[in-house]
Amino acid sequence: MASLASHFPFLVGCTIDGDPAKNYSDAERKLTVDQFNCFTVENSLKSQSLQPIEGQFDFARPDKLLAFAEEHKLKMIGHCLVWHHQCPDWLFHRGGELADCETVLARLNTHISTVMKRYKGKIIGWDVVNEAISDGGDQQLRRSKFTETVGENFVVEAFKLAHAADPDMPLYYNDYSIEQPGKRKKTIELLKQIQKDAPRIDAVGIQGHWMLGGVPLAAIEAAILEYAKLGLKVMITELDIDVLRRDKEGADVSATQNATTREAANQLVCPPEILKRQADDYAALFRLFRKHQDKISRVTFWGLHDGRSWLNNWPIKGRINHALLFDRNCQPKPAYDAVMGV
Ligand code: G3I
Repeated sequence: MASLASHFPFLVGCTIDGDPAKNYSDAERKLTVDQFNCFTVENSLKSQSLQPIEGQFDFARPDKLLAFAEEHKLKMIGHCLVWHHQCPDWLFHRGGELADCETVLARLNTHISTVMKRYKGKIIGWDVVNEAISDGGDQQLRRSKFTETVGENFVVEAFKLAHAADPDMPLYYNDYSIEQPGKRKKTIELLKQIQKDAPRIDAVGIQGHWMLGGVPLAAIEAAILEYAKLGLKVMITELDIDVLRRDKEGADVSATQNATTREAANQLVCPPEILKRQADDYAALFRLFRKHQDKISRVTFWGLHDGRSWLNNWPIKGRINHALLFDRNCQPKPAYDAVMGV
């Protein structure tokens, strides 16, 4: 049977979460197993979900996902150990005050080592730090509780802790819009700093939350080449092509909007001309990925099918988006046929 996973030399994945036996239909489980050879856990491996209260870990959902991965010989990717979003408040506070650097690092060490040791030899790699680069201006890192407590070196410290927890685990840095020149330059600096001061980094994840008619192919190619020149593998980690209008580039999940006009595509049946344009965009992307397949280790779609996409609720809640290769009935869209033709 033709599948994305067998069609490309790099890993091809999607995101799933929860308990596959309970939260997914037979058709969805079949689609996951038939088309992909890996998946990223969308939310249940984030610190807020794993350790909502200090010392109380909840591994129930990741353990179910691992069992599903092992049953179907799928590779599982860990996302994400350190992120300023979906991160529990207790990590940064002590007695009503902001905790000091040593306290936050000790807490991060407990979190990272507990989680990584549990999945040692089972998860194939971790997004150690997610979205640390600032979106605008000259400062390299976005302001967060991590920069406020640990300081600008928190990214390097996180990679040190991750390597200490599991020296055999491949470690990744993951972010959005880092194909764009400004963030790309800052990211290169950060990656060089990690390579210099931390014991290991294996790959960089370009998230790939792009928009219909606005896929920045030249910037993506430049980014692939520049990151690969650092000796890192490049991954496209959260790929989708939004067919609805949004004011914001990128994927800063806190940057929401109020509903404006209802668009032609914002309905269950997406107009064929929009699906055709999306197919063309995806095909152009995968031609680029195939051209640089020696530098690319993985391409992951952020969602299993259109009905499971985060873009149905961001930046505007309750929309009907069509961002992926499969429709809400798990059926291939023109974009799937176009990608399989690359
Ligand atoms: O699990 C709770 C549920 O118990 C509660 O009833 C419900 C109330 O709203 O919230 C549920 O948690 C939600 C979680 O997804 C699981 O569904 C959070 O509110 C919601 O904010 C969270 O959204 C996720 C978002 O990251 C923030 O963590 C999206 O599903 C997920 O697709 C998105 O993924 C991020 C990547 O991790 C990083 N890159 C950007 C990407 C898109 O924002």
